[in-house]
Amino acid sequence: MAQALTITAVTPDSALFDLPWQLPLEEWPDDVVLALPRGISRHVVRFVKLSGRVLAVKEIASYAAAREYGLLKELASLDVPSVAPVAVVGGRRTAAGDPLDAALLTQHLQFSLPYRALFSYRLRPDMATRLLDALALLIVRLHLLGFYWGDVSLSNTLFRRDAKEFSAYLVDAETGALYEQLTDGQRAYDIDLARTNVIGELMDLEAGEMLEDELDPIAIGDFLVERYDQLWLALTEEETISTDARWRLQDRINRLNDLGFDVAEMSMASDPDGTSLHIRPQVVDAGHHSRRLFRLTGLDVQENQARRLLNDLDTYRVHSDQTDADEDFVAHDWLTHVFEPAVRAVPRELRGKLELPQIYHEILEHRWFMSQRESRYVPLDEAVASYIDNVLAHRRDESELILADTIQLPAIDDVPMS
Ligand SMILES: Nc1ncnc2c1ncn2[C@@H]1O[C@H](COP(=O)(O)OP(=O)(O)O)[C@@H](O)[C@H]1O
Ligand SMILES: [Mg+2]
Repeated sequence: MAQALTITAVTPDSALFDLPWQLPLEEWPDDVVLALPRGISRHVVRFVKLSGRVLAVKEIASYAAAREYGLLKELASLDVPSVAPVAVVGGRRTAAGDPLDAALLTQHLQFSLPYRALFSYRLRPDMATRLLDALALLIVRLHLLGFYWGDVSLSNTLFRRDAKEFSAYLVDAETGALYEQLTDGQRAYDIDLARTNVIGELMDLEAGEMLEDELDPIAIGDFLVERYDQLWLALTEEETISTDARWRLQDRINRLNDLGFDVAEMSMASDPDGTSLHIRPQVVDAGHHSRRLFRLTGLDVQENQARRLLNDLDTYRVHSDQTDADEDFVAHDWLTHVFEPAVRAVPRELRGKLELPQIYHEILEHRWFMSQRESRYVPLDEAVASYIDNVLAHRRDESELILADTIQLPAIDDVPMS
């Protein structure tokens, strides 16, 4: 008797049975699959729309599918930026009864882009720096949690705009493993492989004349390692402070906050003679600014977007003469009188272009450009109107970017800000 299709899903959705599982993924008809941009991959990966959401389907051996599904579930519970698992489909057979590989389904990460879709012509130095900064931060976060990735690369990462920066998400966990804690050797091995992969990917770009001439793949690979090491050290290094300079403890915490981390646990030990204190962060959590903004306003945004909004909130506090007022009160005032009216002014049909917090960030940038150009104070509502007409209307839709569009439409790096 032929074995039946088996579906293991995070949230049960019977529509999953409606997909053409009896066909190899490569042969799924065009009315089922969406043409979203994909990174380079070993397996066949395609996108489908199901019950109103977009899913990525990866055809992969059944043990590997189950393993990756499990790992992605664990990563999600640890709050790591990664794609969310949806289901594993096994027991697939063709109409003739021949077995097919299993499928791993993950949620398409909205507003995320593979690195190659981030630029239309050539990768420029500033973009390369921002991408690798984001990747270094992601690797550090994974390593802090004991996750060994095993195949770090730009293709195994998705990027989302995060104010002026990017944030990176893990997309391919196939080679990963979660440990109690990583050894220095495991970390070194992982980051070395990252370096090799990134250099290879940039050499590919170079061969296709998609890399600015002044960019050197090897130097960029080294830059990734350097950034990783710096950040790792800043987050984990033991520091010795003299007991009469205890303010340096707070100083260390402030520096970690500036890097976007909260200290959940710090170990402190004093010398036998009591003259010095050894401090070392034990548990640090990324998301310092986004948590703070969430507490104040209920807005759930990415880390650098949160920094930007908190800055705007501070500016508002000063300009509206509320420096002595309660912070929660001012935050509420800012939310209802500044932030919400601005994003509400964005026509519904333009909201798929960028995430709303990202739109707000760009409005602030646009306002700054306007005021520089015209040497005057530009009120926010005027900046909003000008931004919508002159910038946003000309942007491509990035919520679920359709591949065909990327060919004709300018990528973000080519769109003038004002
Ligand atoms: N959930 C997802 N959201 C957006 N893109 C995805 C998703 N899953 C996969 N992709 C795209 O498909 C590509 C290949 O997926 P990946 O898991 O790396 O497959 P492989 O194991 O074959 O390398 C990725 O680089 C990414 O661009
Ligand atoms: Mg991959």
